[in-house]
This record gives sequence, C-alpha cells and structure tokens, in this order.
Amino acid sequence: MDRIRLVGGNPLNGDIVISGAKNAALPLMIASLLTDEPLVLTNVPRLADVKQLERILENHGVDIAVHGRRRGESDGVGQRMTFHAADIVDTTAPYDLVSKMRASFWVIGPLLARCHEARVSLPGGCAIGTRPVDLFLFGLKELGAEIDIDEGYVVARAPKGGLIGSRIVFPKVSVGATHTLLMAATLAKGTTVIENAAQEPEITNVAECLVAMGAKISGIGTRTLTIEGVEKLHGASVEVIPDRIETGTFAMAAAMTGGDVLLRGARAEHLQSALDILARTGVDLTTEADGIRVKRNGNGIQPVDIETHPFPGFPTDLQAQFMALMTMSQGTSHVRETIFENRYMHVAELARFGADIAVDGQVATIQGKSQLKGAQVMATDLRASVSLVIAGLAAKGETIVNRIYHLDRGFERLEDKLSRCGAEIERLAG
Ligand code: EPU
Repeated sequence: MDRIRLVGGNPLNGDIVISGAKNAALPLMIASLLTDEPLVLTNVPRLADVKQLERILENHGVDIAVHGRRRGESDGVGQRMTFHAADIVDTTAPYDLVSKMRASFWVIGPLLARCHEARVSLPGGCAIGTRPVDLFLFGLKELGAEIDIDEGYVVARAPKGGLIGSRIVFPKVSVGATHTLLMAATLAKGTTVIENAAQEPEITNVAECLVAMGAKISGIGTRTLTIEGVEKLHGASVEVIPDRIETGTFAMAAAMTGGDVLLRGARAEHLQSALDILARTGVDLTTEADGIRVKRNGNGIQPVDIETHPFPGFPTDLQAQFMALMTMSQGTSHVRETIFENRYMHVAELARFGADIAVDGQVATIQGKSQLKGAQVMATDLRASVSLVIAGLAAKGETIVNRIYHLDRGFERLEDKLSRCGAEIERLAG
C-alpha cells in the first residue's frame, strides 16, 4: 500500500485550486438514474469514490463518458462527464459494490422512483460509527414504499403507479436521507414536504440540479423542502460546487504551518462557521474575488472550543483537522463531536506526534504544545488521515502516513497541491 512521506517545518505559500466537492459529485451522479436523458456534470473531482460509484451506476446500466479538456481550460480542471441512464437494466445494487462506500446506498431513492422497485445491499458498519439507515426507510415508507430486509438487502417496492407524495418529518437531520428522499419525491404523485431537511450546500447543489432536470422544488437551502412530483425528468448540465471540506482542510494546514495561501475558487458562505472559528484562533482570513486568502505570520494559535453540528454549524468533516490545529495552540481547548459517536480515531494517532488529548465521551480536551514531532502514523478514515498529513506538515522532522488509500477517496492531487506551496511531501509506492 502507498504511503506518504513528509518533512515538516516549511510554511505554505502560494495558490491552491479547490476541486469539486466529493459529497456533491456523488449524489449528483446518482441523480442521473432519474432520467433516460443524459446528465452532464462539470468540475467532477478525480477521486477513488467517484470511480467506485461509476462502477455501481454502470451495473444499473448507466453509460458514462469522460470528456476531454476544452479550449481555455487549465490543466487539472475538474472532469466533464456525461451520465446516461437510457435503460435501467438492473435494480439491484450488490453487496460487493455498496459495502465499499456508504453513499452508494442512496441509489435506492431514484431506482424506486423511476423503476418502482429496488434491491440495495445494506451499507454495513463504518469506521466512524454505526451509521444506520432507519431514516431512509422511514422516509421511503412515508412515500408509500413497502420495505423488507432480505439476506442483508433492503427490498423496496413502490405502490402500483409509483410513489405517493407525503409529509416527512425527520426526527434527526441526515444528509444522505435528505438527498435520497428529495430525489425519490421528484417523480412521486402529488406533493411531498420534507421537514427537518439537511441544509448542506451539497443538498442545494443537488436540488438545483433536479430543478434544471425539470423537478419542482421550493424551499431550497432551508429546513423545509417542498417537492411537487412530475411525470418525467429530462437531461441537464450542472457544475459541481467547490469542496468546502478541502477548503477548510487547507486553511487549517496554512494556519498550522504559517504562510500565505490563496484557496482559489473557494466559497466562504459554504464554510462560514469554520472560517469564524479559524479567525478566533488568530488566523488572518480575507475573501477575495477568486477565493479565500489564509495567512498566519508570526502570531501564535489561540485555543478555541468547538462543537460539530449540521450545516450551518461547524462540520464534523473538519473536526479532525481542527483538532490537529488545536494541538499547537497556546492553551487548552475542547472539541465536542455531536454527529458521529465514534469519530475520534485520529486522537491516538495525533498522540504519536506528541499531542496531549484526553477523550471523555463526546468531548476531547486538547492541551496545546508549541512543537509537534514527526512520527509513523496510520488512519482509518478519510478526514482523520488528512488531519495526520497537516499535523506532519507542522511537525519537526519526518512523518510517514501509512494506508493512504483513504486520502485518495476524497482528496484530489493532495501531495501535488501541497508541494507546489512549498511543502516537502512525496508518495512512496507500496
Ligand atoms: N443517521 C441515522 N439514521 C439514518 C441516517 C443517519 O441515525 O438513517 C445518523 C448517522 O448515524 C449520524 C447522523 O445521522 O449520526 C448524521 O449522518 P448523515 O446521514 O447526515 O451522514 P451521511 O449522509 O452518511 C454525509 C457525508 C459525510 C458527513 C456527514 C455529516 C457524504 C457522501 N457523506 O454522510 O461525509 O460526515 O454527511 O455531515 O455526503 C466524509 O466525506 O468523509 C464523510 C464522512
């Protein structure tokens, strides 16, 4: 397995182009199942998770094409891809494919809406918590679906004539369940109201894509989505939004190492809560016409307490990276993880750099240190892995990050983007 070797201590200086958001690209690709016309997506990041979802969609019969670079487009621009589900040949999403990536379970919404049936493997356990699917099943049942669990598969059937619009009040905010029910409701008969919907920018990207495909949705970007079902959706062309988690990760990396970095293409309104927190730690942030500039020159890092919450709160997907930053603060800080019950696997690995972190239930207490020391580390999920990379960038000496396939799931050209800004970082082939 590949590893990353880095030698910490260099400040980051330069430009980093932010890639398309993984967590928007995946549901946008899934939305292509809703129509027999082509859906064109631009700014699709080159990631292992995108490749994995391509395999799943191809198994349902989707034709996928990657188009070449256009005149005027810079090298490294996100991919332009066409997804064409002219004929869905198979409504089963098998265990072998679904078990590798939880988001693939979301195909259940469009398959049920368009084909009136779906057989989708349960996604199974995951390193960051149990992550059940009860909210998905609750919502689909509200739309009239009959659901059985059979040999590890969710077998769902719509009533004769298709799903029926309804009022769905989610007891808890779920990104995936909101995506799935939103997609399912576009082709249901009558009106669906989704209350306590997730408001993440990725949900808005998908909702706007569905509108471009002919869906009737109001309340986009709010807690209540109202969907007027239509008979058919058509093709469209939609751009994937910039990745706010990649943005926040590089902002925290620059905060840790010092320097001056322009995060090109980043949108401040997509991660305002994290930027507000970073400003309180003493980082200088300015929104410019073409992105966000992050600077820290000389001054120390102030300790700040955070709690993770659904959007617009502080994102759980930046919790590990923020904890890495706090290990270097001039005092004591606290992190409370409220979304996932087991998202502290990076704590033991950060300790290898000399970090002082104690976990008690949902709360981690971090005693800041002036200097981390390089180490051999390994992580078990994507965001935890990148927190180790940014800790290594700020640590004294050499760091080896093992098992980096997690990073390739969600960060495009990570070593390249960082080394162009002065980091000493390389991939060692396994
Ligand atoms: N939950 C339930 N029942 C359900 C669904 C969710 O109890 O049926 C719980 C989960 O166990 C969790 C909470 O609800 O405690 C929130 O989970 P959510 O459904 O919102 O998460 P998700 O849709 O599985 C997406 C992102 C995650 C991100 C979370 C939270 C994608 C592909 N994944 O996951 O991203 O952490 O929302 O913002 O969009 C990542 O990119 O590294 C990642 C893990």
